[in-house]
This record gives sequence, C-alpha cells and structure tokens, in this order.
Amino acid sequence: MRPRRSILTYRARSWTNIGESTAARGLGRGLGYNFQLSQAPSIVMSYYRYHVFFCVNQREPGAACCNSHRAQDMRDYCKGRIKALKLDGKGNIRVNSAGCLDRCDEGPVLVVYPEAVWYTYVDKEDIDEIIEEHLKHGRIVERLKI
Ligand code: FES
Repeated sequence: MRPRRSILTYRARSWTNIGESTAARGLGRGLGYNFQLSQAPSIVMSYYRYHVFFCVNQREPGAACCNSHRAQDMRDYCKGRIKALKLDGKGNIRVNSAGCLDRCDEGPVLVVYPEAVWYTYVDKEDIDEIIEEHLKHGRIVERLKI
C-alpha cells in the first residue's frame, strides 16, 4: 500500500544511512505513525529557516497598494538589516519581493513562512521589531499581525 502523503515532504538524503534505525522508527512514532523508513510519509526540510515576502506592488494612482506605503523601501531596509546581521543565506533567512498578495486594503503587507504569519507595518521600527522578535527569536509580533 502506498503511504499517505503528508504536508511535510521527507528529504531523505542525509537520512538514507539511518535505514530502519531506532531513530527513524522513533521519528515515525513521534509523528503518530508506526512505519518502516521506506514507508515514511514525506517531511519537508525547509531550505530557509524563514522566508519573508514583501508585497511591493504598485497600482495606478488612487488605488490601494503596498508600494504607496513605501513597501519597496521597507523591503530593501529589511533585506539590508538581515544581511548586516549575517542572518541571510541557506538555512537562515531570505527576504524577497512579491507582486500583489491580494490583501491590498490591509497593506502594506508582508508574510513570513513557514508559519504563514501576515504582518502590516508603518516604519523601520516595525520592521526592526519583526526582525528582532519573529526572525531572530521566533516570537510572533501580535500587534502587527493581520
Ligand atoms: S498591492 Fe500589496 S497586497 Fe495587493
């Protein structure tokens, strides 16, 4: 019988030598499964610890859009801070520009994965708080959450 797919996709490259080890069976039981490694559901090991998407969309004058609230500047500021803090790169934090995320009236918006936490912001202090609290310490900034 084919194993059920999980939200998580198992990246077995570094685990292949584990085989049918106690650790692998323990992982399965920890996830609520009783399986052999070869039957394991897939588990995703994220390439980045956090992936931040800033909507930087610009609409015609008068239409609600994130870039009317300096979204591109805030994205550049965030990316620069992450780099200056040496938090960028594989296994760490990536900051990307995005097109419209379809929450224009709530903007400016950004979203942080893997938790899919949406934020709005006003200024650099808000971005600094998201970096310090969420990206550095894993604490969601409730006051900026949308
Ligand atoms: S313009 Fe940013 S969500 Fe639509």
